[in-house]
Amino acid sequence: MEFLPAFFQLHDEPVLLVGGGTVAQRKASLLFRAGARVTVIAPAITPALQKGLNEHGGTWQARPWAAGDINGYTMVVAATPDSAVNSAVSAEAKSRHIPVNVVDCPELCSFIFPSVVDRSPLVIAVSSGGRSPVLTRMLRSRIEALVPAAYGRLAEFAGNLRDVVRERVPDEAQRRRFWEDLLQGPVASQVLAGRDERAREGVEQLLAQQCSGETQGEVYLIGAGPGDPDLMTFKGIRLLQAADVVLHDRLVTPEITDLARRDAERIYVGKARTDHAVPQMEINQMLVDLAKQGKRVARLKGGDPFVFGRGGEEIELLAQHKVPFQVVPGITAATGAASYAGIPLTHRDHAQSVRFVAGYLKGHTVDHDWANFQSENETLVFYMGLVGLPVICSELQAHGRSPDTPVALVEQATRPTQRVIVGTLANIVERVERAQPQAPTLVIVGAVVSLASDLSWFGAMPE
Ligand SMILES: C[S@@+](CC[C@H](N)C(=O)[O-])C[C@H]1O[C@@H](n2cnc3c(N)ncnc32)[C@H](O)[C@@H]1O
Repeated sequence: MEFLPAFFQLHDEPVLLVGGGTVAQRKASLLFRAGARVTVIAPAITPALQKGLNEHGGTWQARPWAAGDINGYTMVVAATPDSAVNSAVSAEAKSRHIPVNVVDCPELCSFIFPSVVDRSPLVIAVSSGGRSPVLTRMLRSRIEALVPAAYGRLAEFAGNLRDVVRERVPDEAQRRRFWEDLLQGPVASQVLAGRDERAREGVEQLLAQQCSGETQGEVYLIGAGPGDPDLMTFKGIRLLQAADVVLHDRLVTPEITDLARRDAERIYVGKARTDHAVPQMEINQMLVDLAKQGKRVARLKGGDPFVFGRGGEEIELLAQHKVPFQVVPGITAATGAASYAGIPLTHRDHAQSVRFVAGYLKGHTVDHDWANFQSENETLVFYMGLVGLPVICSELQAHGRSPDTPVALVEQATRPTQRVIVGTLANIVERVERAQPQAPTLVIVGAVVSLASDLSWFGAMPE
């Protein structure tokens, strides 16, 4: 490690800034945020820097830097365009063991400014040792997106509880578990949602559990989206990474289960159409049992848990047993497939409504009131419709839809293996038979399908 990451307490400390241009101005704004008393030495300064000094009680000495200027300062920053001045400032500061930063010159620095994600009191700093500020800024943006702005309030909330928790949970290991439960469970969710009163009630419950020795688990019902791991939500990833156990099924890709903690137990409860690996009732019961053992359980479901996902049944049993749970929506296959196939589900010229329909066969038929499916201005999306496709196409035509109505079958949507097979109600069955697609597949019916040839952007062109 070239530089030791450390955080300076600069509140009311005198800091010298040599230079008054826009680069100095950027450094000054960081120093102001840290509460430093900034003195600028420079022949001229920008109006914004002058304004910052006025607002934060800093001073400006309108002259060039001279040897001996660094006396009495806690920290020195050189940001002049003159490399000789920068070198002299650095040499003098180093000879007196005063931390010095020379902007864009790591070799002259005894400390460097990292890229900062400021969720005060939570602060995250990223540095590449001065090698690539652009890379650190890019990383910072990613972290910004991952760490909700409200995490600062969560840190504040936890900080206010520290004394009381130390007193009521004296055992260190128990205390660590308490903090993990608090920061990853429902209490944190309440704080992040701004419901501090409810959060405080949750803290009391957690403390009571710790004292009685019983631990309460929690279940996260997480929508994993249609396959592309980048389509997971931030919340889904956060809760997945908090889980001790992960229950996943066939539709969840390995790239997504890999996002769980390495030490988390993974249980496959997958279901193919004809093979129910673990019956639904057993899955429901498993969730209750694992949570009652005090575990944090992530139940990962393909797409959205509440769209043909039986998520409702899974949480019904949890609710009956008073097991706390959270539900995280996911991108459902219909929207994922439509976006990645270039088929807008609604469009001012083609479709004013969209309907998600279960397309599986019950016996030899797909059970629907087909007379209700006749609007030319409505897009129909059939989930689980591969086997029932011949019935779907013939029923729609028998009830008045034109044989020329465009149809797309999207195979393995959003994954690198995605294929889109396009046809009409009259010929799609034959085209699909020829293409032999692999599950999962989704069928989209309606005029919007005709846009795919122009709007397709992902993977292979529609066949
Ligand atoms: C039991 S349903 C689960 C739906 C899921 N809860 C959702 O919101 O997407 C399974 C069906 O979703 C569709 N499906 C899920 N992922 C898909 C994908 N990546 N590509 C195409 N269809 C998909 C298929 O029709 C599959 O038969």
